[in-house]
Amino acid sequence: MRVPLFDMTRQYETLKEELLGAVDAVFSSGRVIMGENVKAFEREMADYLGVKHAIGVANGSDALYIAVRSLGIKSGDFVITTAFTFFATASCITRNGATPIFVDIDERTFNIDLDQVESVLENHPSRERIKAVIPVHLFGRTVDLERLKRIRDKYGVRIVEDCAQSVGSTWRFSDGTVKKSGSVGNISTLSFFPTKNLGAHGDAGMILTNDDDLAEFCRIFRVHGARVKYFHEIEGINSRLDEVQAAILRVKLRRLDEYHRRRIELARLYNELFERHGLTDRIVCPPVGKDFECVFHQYVIRVKNGHRDRLKSYLESHGVETAIYYPLGLHRQRCFSHLPAVKLEKTDRACAEVLALPMFPELREEEVEYVVECIRDYFEGECAC
Ligand SMILES: Cc1ncc(COP(=O)(O)O)c(C=O)c1O
Repeated sequence: MRVPLFDMTRQYETLKEELLGAVDAVFSSGRVIMGENVKAFEREMADYLGVKHAIGVANGSDALYIAVRSLGIKSGDFVITTAFTFFATASCITRNGATPIFVDIDERTFNIDLDQVESVLENHPSRERIKAVIPVHLFGRTVDLERLKRIRDKYGVRIVEDCAQSVGSTWRFSDGTVKKSGSVGNISTLSFFPTKNLGAHGDAGMILTNDDDLAEFCRIFRVHGARVKYFHEIEGINSRLDEVQAAILRVKLRRLDEYHRRRIELARLYNELFERHGLTDRIVCPPVGKDFECVFHQYVIRVKNGHRDRLKSYLESHGVETAIYYPLGLHRQRCFSHLPAVKLEKTDRACAEVLALPMFPELREEEVEYVVECIRDYFEGECAC
């Protein structure tokens, strides 16, 4: 059996007619840049996520770059973030001339450790120059939004939520209200990279905010800084959300909650099978909760005792595709070697132990069973040696 990590063609088969109809309507309209679909998709996303403004841009990296720019963050400023994330979470800081301060993760969730964030906000020698915190809801698991809100209010620091992997994930507050990731930060960002839970058939991204002024800045910045064409108020860039991608994403948005439910079901199945095969002393499974607290953009296990790379090769030779998100923390990347060295033991350990297993809504139950059986066989072989 061959089990892909992600297979976009299976979803395409189920949506083919509708997607081609949507694309055809765009082509037939002759309006392929900033048309009705971009406008409608922005409105639909704002409603879905419970935010006032949604601004479509070319990709998630631009969304972060523009979001940080909109806060006026510049050279001499600091921004706290996690080193266990995709590169764009930190490059949006440095591309704006500011300096990232990397803190460690919570080992259970892989998300930024908010105790450490608070400790840096209180004790850093240049704490008055720390202008923002960028938490990432990694693998689809929501960072504690209630605490983020408290940190924002207590320290007056801006929060930029990187929701590239968490579109539609939720957090239940202690008073019972449920909010979606992206709705608490001063400004938040999404990626619609094809592998994401809401994936385009190409690149696309979005900025979210409840702040009218930030929204206005981003709307202008994405079109060369011109509110009125050819009259440039600020030095912006070209980062528009493509009309065809917006039309495609509108079709998929209608199914997003159903896709999330399926991902959670599959995560639960993985966990049950690992338990049933007695593998939970060999690997650590991600917790599966209620609601959409984690929308399982990725299903990531920890493989203990140095077995990760050998297990990955074994799975590959048995037709199971896996991936390592992420093999090297951002604090150890060569391009950031000029930054002061930091010790992030939990991040380093995660880089050595994580393994992402196949996860997408169209994944079949027998494929999950096969993956778990291969992992069981690997460890049985190891024990026999
Ligand atoms: C956490 C995170 N931030 C930012 C991005 C950047 O998004 P994009 O690939 O759309 O530029 C990604 C996507 O890969 C991501 O996973």
